[in-house]
Amino acid sequence: MALVTTKEMFKKAYDGGYAIGAFNVNNMEIVQGITEAAQEMRSPVILQVSAGARKYAKHIYLMKLVEAAAADTDIPIALHLDHGEDYEICKSCIDGGFTSVMIDGSKHSFEDNIALTKRVVEYAHSKGVTVEGELGKLAGIEDNINVKAEDASYTNPDEVEEFVRKTGVDSLAIAIGTSHGAFKFKPGQKPMLRFDILAEIEKRLPNYPIVLHGSSSVNKEYVEIIQKYNGALDDAIGIPEEMLRRAAKSAVCKINIDSDLRLAMTAGIRQDLTVNPSHFDPRQYLRLGRDNVRTLVKHKIENVLGSAGKA
Ligand code: G3H
Ligand code: 13P
Ligand code: ZN
Repeated sequence: MALVTTKEMFKKAYDGGYAIGAFNVNNMEIVQGITEAAQEMRSPVILQVSAGARKYAKHIYLMKLVEAAAADTDIPIALHLDHGEDYEICKSCIDGGFTSVMIDGSKHSFEDNIALTKRVVEYAHSKGVTVEGELGKLAGIEDNINVKAEDASYTNPDEVEEFVRKTGVDSLAIAIGTSHGAFKFKPGQKPMLRFDILAEIEKRLPNYPIVLHGSSSVNKEYVEIIQKYNGALDDAIGIPEEMLRRAAKSAVCKINIDSDLRLAMTAGIRQDLTVNPSHFDPRQYLRLGRDNVRTLVKHKIENVLGSAGKA
């Protein structure tokens, strides 16, 4: 099936009370693990590429890998730029075949964020590409930029309507307490999301798709495998799955997951190389990593996102 935009996906997800998983991809095994899981579960899926991933693998390799995944399956797949920081990277991805881009103007003032997002929307829409914007600031690490918890800020519900109206953006990423990376809460701190802010935003933006970044759950089983095979991951804490299930039933139509994939992949590689010290063929240790990614994504689709059978 050809790549699709997020438009139809989000409309169906909003009406159906489920969310689409947006998974970060960096190499072939990750693309295969995710899309094989989505195909098996008959779920639509978003594959997203960060600036760092583009630098690591090159745009053309990721583009061709995702095109191969689309040709090898018959489910809706969108290819999305994650955290585009300026107009130029968004334009480059639009011109290079992506079906969706994020312009992350959250570090700018409200007015500058509007101006930048509007400019990207105008270009993207002229090419039939959908755009995600962001209001509010998540804590955590993304592309080596570390936003400290005290510098993070929740989305202000009073700003969302004006932002969407003035920019024409197709979906909005909000900050309600999720954060990037595998260390989302301090040890002893109770994980908490501001569902009251989400409810206020939903009231102000009826029938409008909301996006949650930083939504890995840091599943215990992979953390334990990594620790068992000499990985240091003390104090890794994610968003509890019941909170994400609740969000998926609301106006949240896209849930971003990257750290969980990293943990699943790394658990497989560490396990294989530790159990079989003589292995030196990458196909041996990457196979287990890819199997873990497939298992993880199936679990998310079935138990968190609710998108199984919606393709
Ligand atoms: O939100 C950020 C994603 O986890 C991508 O991370 O920029 O290190 O590829 P990255
Ligand atoms: P996690 O670090 O929680 O997986 O978040 C990923 C993300 O938001 C990508 O944009
Ligand atoms: Zn993010």
